[in-house]
Amino acid sequence: MHRTAASRRGVEARAHDRAKHHLLDPADPLFTVLGADADKRRQVDAFLRLLEPALDRLPDRTGPDGAVRPLRVVDLGCGNAYLTFAAHRWLTDRLGAGQVRTLGVDVRPDVVARSERLAGEARLDGLSFAVGTIADAEVTERPDVVLALHACDTATDEALARAVRWEAPVVLAAPCCHHDVQRRSPPDRAPPSPTARWPGTASCASASPTC
Ligand SMILES: C[S@@+](CC[C@H](N)C(=O)[O-])C[C@H]1O[C@@H](n2cnc3c(N)ncnc32)[C@H](O)[C@@H]1O
Repeated sequence: MHRTAASRRGVEARAHDRAKHHLLDPADPLFTVLGADADKRRQVDAFLRLLEPALDRLPDRTGPDGAVRPLRVVDLGCGNAYLTFAAHRWLTDRLGAGQVRTLGVDVRPDVVARSERLAGEARLDGLSFAVGTIADAEVTERPDVVLALHACDTATDEALARAVRWEAPVVLAAPCCHHDVQRRSPPDRAPPSPTARWPGTASCASASPTC
């Protein structure tokens, strides 16, 4: 197939526009290692896009000795940790190597073990995982950023409560199913699933057996 120089430039420009559209390249090998499909990559990117403006509101991390301490991020109900890995990678790209410490917390030992293994294989410095409930997970230092993407049912409320107790300056949460609220509401007043408005989201039930 032959293309004129003008049409080649058009194709290149469109490809460039597409590349600019993502904060983290969807072709990043990290997504392949994690087994994230195109929907999940878009969803994670949309979340990072919401996180981006919040970076300006982070507290100064410079200590009395002039050294800048790493940013502390906690992802509550991290599941398969697509967001945890992506946020860690993207923030590290932005702030510099060694400048981000990210902890993913989930109540399921199997997903935590998988994430720990993948983080070790990818040699991602500063990324760790812990088994625990959102309400009781051990965190040694106050987080700067708390993330909770589709933590099931009332778990998003627990994440918000935890973030408020920590006085975390940045909290970004997108709720999941509202089973508890739906159970308590008359059928004509039940809230719609928030995931219906979130780009490219599978139903909660298919995403997690705990829902
Ligand atoms: C729908 S998945 C979402 C996972 C991930 N944040 C994402 O968006 O891909 C919800 C996760 O929250 C975890 N979870 C639910 N309730 C929890 C709780 N109270 N404490 C810790 N993890 C919880 C589940 O085990 C599951 O892995």
